[in-house]
Amino acid sequence: MKKTLCCENIHRMLCLFAAAGMMTGCAAYTPVDKTPSKIRIGVTLYDEYDTFLGELMQCFNQDVFAKQSEGGPEITVNMYGASRNQAIQNDQVKEMINNDCDVLCVNLVDRTAPTEIIDFARSAGIPVIFFNRELVEEDLLQWDQLYYVGADAFQSGTMQGELAVDAIRSQNGDKNGDGSIQYIMLEGEAGHQDAIVRSENSANRMVELGVKLDKLGYGIANWNQAQAETKMNQFIDQYGSDIELVLANNDEMALGAIAACKSQNIPEKDRPIILGIDGTKTGLQAVKDGEMYGTVFNDSAGQAQAMFDLAYQLATTGTTDGITLKDGKYIRLDYQKITRDNVDDFIKGSRSAQ
Ligand code: BGC
Repeated sequence: MKKTLCCENIHRMLCLFAAAGMMTGCAAYTPVDKTPSKIRIGVTLYDEYDTFLGELMQCFNQDVFAKQSEGGPEITVNMYGASRNQAIQNDQVKEMINNDCDVLCVNLVDRTAPTEIIDFARSAGIPVIFFNRELVEEDLLQWDQLYYVGADAFQSGTMQGELAVDAIRSQNGDKNGDGSIQYIMLEGEAGHQDAIVRSENSANRMVELGVKLDKLGYGIANWNQAQAETKMNQFIDQYGSDIELVLANNDEMALGAIAACKSQNIPEKDRPIILGIDGTKTGLQAVKDGEMYGTVFNDSAGQAQAMFDLAYQLATTGTTDGITLKDGKYIRLDYQKITRDNVDDFIKGSRSAQ
């Protein structure tokens, strides 16, 4: 019985997640009396179409199912997408609080503007787990019931830089033999911690490892494949085969760069070396197919599990007992390097690929 209820909840949640542009709330949700035998988790995403977060939430749903099948309290998840609008997200948080959510998982639209959400939650006494879009520490310290689940952006940039150096050395990346690598940086959103830190550290790491770099240009493509393809087409028009390397802040944008090379009929041997970050389903496939030299695994399954475990513990006991938190607040999962040599392990192990 419990499992059926859970399925209905998940089904409702997935419908909400899939329907285009309609993230106005849990209209179909019928509030029931909160009892100790039920818990309700509210989740809001900055953008319901983000590929990485879509995979993370798929894993989160699996975690809910798995826990529910062990018995215990009935778990309801109220899921919202904020369509990249902070005011909409603030309203969603209010609605989740009115719907009696026991804990909130918030993927901020604007990571510099969490105060309104924190104020609502604090006055209602409902803990908040921020995830993926990291607020500054000062904001996380505003209240003792605020947490963050994510990864260390610095590590991902460093690993991408190291992969790029391996690629250049093993694949004769300095195609024009001028002693430096002409490269393009495809960046995520301006102001996102992962975009800023990855861009800086991947290039810095390459220089530390003795590679001379010559930046031809950068394009902000907001984590988005189509935007990256447009930017890359412009770079190809401008620089043609001078581009030796593309460092993309995520796999989606690396896939955009690959698509541009294909649409301009650049033969594989003449294409730049392209690297991403995330290890999404399509990113892993591009590595396996040899179109992307490598990527850096951003552990969506691990982050989903960590967020679910913390949310469950907070909702059922009001404590963080048994959960390892750095400084009482942070959970960060490690990144891992992926190339063609180990990509199959990630494809096999990837819950989001199921
Ligand atoms: C991921 C991106 C994603 C972004 C959303 C980053 O950590 O690498 O793929 O679009 O988070 O905030």
